[in-house]
Amino acid sequence: MIFASAPGPLEPQTLAGLEQVLGPGRLLAGPEAEPFLTDHRQLYHGRGLVARPHTAGELARLLAFCNEHRIGVVPQGGNTGYCGGATPDESGTQLVVSLARLSRIRQVDPLNYSLVAEAGCILADAQRAAEEAERFFPLSLGSQGSCQIGGNLSTNAGGVHVLRYGMMRDLVLGLEVALADGRLLSSLTSLRKDNTGYDVKSLFLGAEGTLGIITAASLKLFPKIRCSATAFAAVPDPRAAVQLLARLREASGDRVSSFELVPRLAIELTTRHIPGVRDPLEAPHSWYVLCELTSSRAADPLDSMLTECLGEALQGGLVRDAALAASERERAAFWKLRETIPEAQRLDGASLKHDISVPVAAIPEFIERAGAWLRENAPDGRLIAYGHVGDGNLHLNLNQAPGADRAAFLARSEPIKRAIHDLVRDFDGSFSAEHGIGRLKVGELEHYAQPVELALMRAIKRVFDPRGILNPGKVLRRDAQ
Ligand code: FAD
Ligand code: MLT
Ligand code: ZN
Repeated sequence: MIFASAPGPLEPQTLAGLEQVLGPGRLLAGPEAEPFLTDHRQLYHGRGLVARPHTAGELARLLAFCNEHRIGVVPQGGNTGYCGGATPDESGTQLVVSLARLSRIRQVDPLNYSLVAEAGCILADAQRAAEEAERFFPLSLGSQGSCQIGGNLSTNAGGVHVLRYGMMRDLVLGLEVALADGRLLSSLTSLRKDNTGYDVKSLFLGAEGTLGIITAASLKLFPKIRCSATAFAAVPDPRAAVQLLARLREASGDRVSSFELVPRLAIELTTRHIPGVRDPLEAPHSWYVLCELTSSRAADPLDSMLTECLGEALQGGLVRDAALAASERERAAFWKLRETIPEAQRLDGASLKHDISVPVAAIPEFIERAGAWLRENAPDGRLIAYGHVGDGNLHLNLNQAPGADRAAFLARSEPIKRAIHDLVRDFDGSFSAEHGIGRLKVGELEHYAQPVELALMRAIKRVFDPRGILNPGKVLRRDAQ
């Protein structure tokens, strides 16, 4: 009986009840549960048991039981989230619910341009299923080999195609959700139009498991990408990058699907720490963009569109140098450089992360002002501002400078965060553009959200989860729920 080593103060009869609801082999404890108890960034280490239901019905029954016994439930997908949302607290009283066993693709409908996947389906598997049906599912993240559709929906994930296709919220047609009291909300339609009252399902998107547990989703597909052109271009500064984006959108008939900003330091860190990454250009430059045009028409002249636009930009001083990917291998090499920036940063030492957004046109001024403040107030850090500039979303991170004292650097994270986020507020921006709130940013939400917005969030939480069993303490502080 696994409960002999139960980690927390759950009553023995409650534990026995849990096992009965789930059936044999569905509940993990001790060393088997360990991998589920720490978040990806290793910021939190919790305690608790892990349930692995195999069907939506099983999950719904489990929730009914947990609601009756007031057991806190922490949904977990691929556990790649950045804000500790999928990790239980330290009390040992919470139950992690892993969605990994609900991983089927239920349906692919090429004519309707839609796909129905269960919540535990790995993102890369959903992309592959679409591809096999000659379609394209556009959500694309560095973590796509392990994050899950349910986690993507619950964090409203962004990634590198938002510019063209929107965030995860924009890719949803229908949802199936297990509610706190065990009812199953089946809103799994694949309709493009449905104006029948409140859009209840939309509340679960970005809710980080605090309002219900998503069990399946109907997602939008697009025509398969048959042609692409990718360039890695050096630009004089972020202002030039934003201007280049505007021109490229016009010149290409709005075929830009990615436009990512990369600073010099990112090239230095990736080439130093990640095997196989090389600087695509001969001379060093301060700033770069990785841009990609895509089309579903195999014969679209994207390469010439991109070359022409970059050539004009070179003459006009918006671009200093550029390399066009001449093969799929070169294209993959450009993307490897971009996607491994977070890993290179981690390997280089301590870092402070800020996932901010401001209007696209305000990005240059924001970088200038944040950079000036950091140079003066955090000289032991090196700014590495990179990411989805086409969406106005920057990962404005600070890496410990060589030789700096790690503990002293990390000890200043709070005042640095406050200064950056205050600046974001001055720009009418967001302190969490795509990574969510989880446990990490609960205080930031309380600090920056309008009181009326917070009050509405708390009221919504009470309607969906009156006993407060769903991901307690995430997004909203537990005592304020
Ligand atoms: P988890 O981490 O398991 O969970 C995230 C939250 O969702 C938790 O609150 C959890 O309780 C809840 N949850 C999970 N499944 C469900 C469900 N079925 N029902 C209800 N709630 C649920 N994010 C971006 O947005 N853009 C990026 O470009 C990006 N790049 C990344 C690159 C790397 C290398 C890594 C490691 C992460 C990156 N991320 C990025 C962050 C992360 O991958 C995303 O937030 C992703 O959507 C999380 O999915 P997951 O399945 O791992 O969710
Ligand atoms: C990215 O875009 O690379 C991620 O969202 C940021 C990160 O992994 O730190
Ligand atoms: Zn990102």
